[in-house]
Amino acid sequence: MIKYLGSKRRLVPVIGAMAASVGARRALDLFTGTTRVAQELKRAGAVVTAVDSARYSEVLARCYVESDARTIDRTALVDALRDLAARPGRPGYFTETFCQRSRFFQPHNGERIDAIRDAIEDDFGGSSLQPVLLTSLLQAADRVDSTTGVQMAYVKQWAPRSYNQLELREPPLLEGPGHTHRGDACELAPILGPFDFAYLDPPYNQHRYFTNYHIWETLVAWDAPPHYGVACKRVDARDGSTRSAFNRRREMPEALAQVLRDVRADLLVLSYNDESWVILDELHAMCAERGLVEVLAFDSKRYVGAQIGIHNPSGARVGTVSRLRNVEYLLVCGEASAVRRAATAGREVGGAELVSAV
Ligand SMILES: C[S@@+](CC[C@H](N)C(=O)[O-])C[C@H]1O[C@@H](n2cnc3c(N)ncnc32)[C@H](O)[C@@H]1O
Repeated sequence: MIKYLGSKRRLVPVIGAMAASVGARRALDLFTGTTRVAQELKRAGAVVTAVDSARYSEVLARCYVESDARTIDRTALVDALRDLAARPGRPGYFTETFCQRSRFFQPHNGERIDAIRDAIEDDFGGSSLQPVLLTSLLQAADRVDSTTGVQMAYVKQWAPRSYNQLELREPPLLEGPGHTHRGDACELAPILGPFDFAYLDPPYNQHRYFTNYHIWETLVAWDAPPHYGVACKRVDARDGSTRSAFNRRREMPEALAQVLRDVRADLLVLSYNDESWVILDELHAMCAERGLVEVLAFDSKRYVGAQIGIHNPSGARVGTVSRLRNVEYLLVCGEASAVRRAATAGREVGGAELVSAV
């Protein structure tokens, strides 16, 4: 899976156990990101709908959530990956922009990414294999990048992994149907569903996924956009259309409250952490409109940027990081007996301590 800010690796089994405890057959992952949680829900037997505003997330969801392993021709997939991997490198926009003007990837990998991405477009565009092949390429590129996990900057010296050869691997597809929507959660929440179980994991602060992962947006859109700045960000990063209410301090609380009102699901689980703009008591009050609320809290390591500290453009450490750990919350809300069952299941799997909120 790609390196991703706010990815819920540790919470995945907890959320899966919660969904299983209420026998969820129809599940929603409204800010799906890497699709980790959606995959777990699908593995647990639910028909999952995965939603995100990001283009790369849509591709990941079309691969892992929407594709049914039973209907994908495995031989054709393996052949296609072998064929793509054998293409000789051919420098294009990706190499020039992300290996020469900036240093996110080494040119030997950038040239192969250019050639493979062109071939996916030309030979597999519109086919059921396309999202699977693109996912394989995204994940391969992520394994050889030269960043700390976000694409606002690259590291000064080439990261050791960037010397490795790009390697296309077969994404492990899951059996069963699923659905994908790219769009704004605020608009989609009232029109999707109904669901037995919904998981919501919105952004917590001003850091935009569109700019943090602009290279993945471009690798998927394959539109060679004009760019700006040292990180060669897409110019449309400046457009209002690529911004999210969840990254704006003044708009976020109401956007979240509205989405919480609109989602059509019996049981809803909301992820948040103690660095958010909204405090736990306020979140609790928003969730209480849906019924009983229980809160599970998990001690967690902060993202890698916080671990390595704050550096100026020449690489010198310039700031201090206030703390290296935070608290991740899961707020479980809905009909009382379902909430109690899910919270108990979550605690058993996660060993979490129940926070006595409000
Ligand atoms: C905290 S991340 C989700 C991480 C995900 N749970 C995982 O484990 O990978 C938040 C996600 O919300 C998406 N997002 C931001 N604003 C959005 C909006 N208005 N509508 C839908 N998705 C949005 C971002 O693209 C990002 O993938």
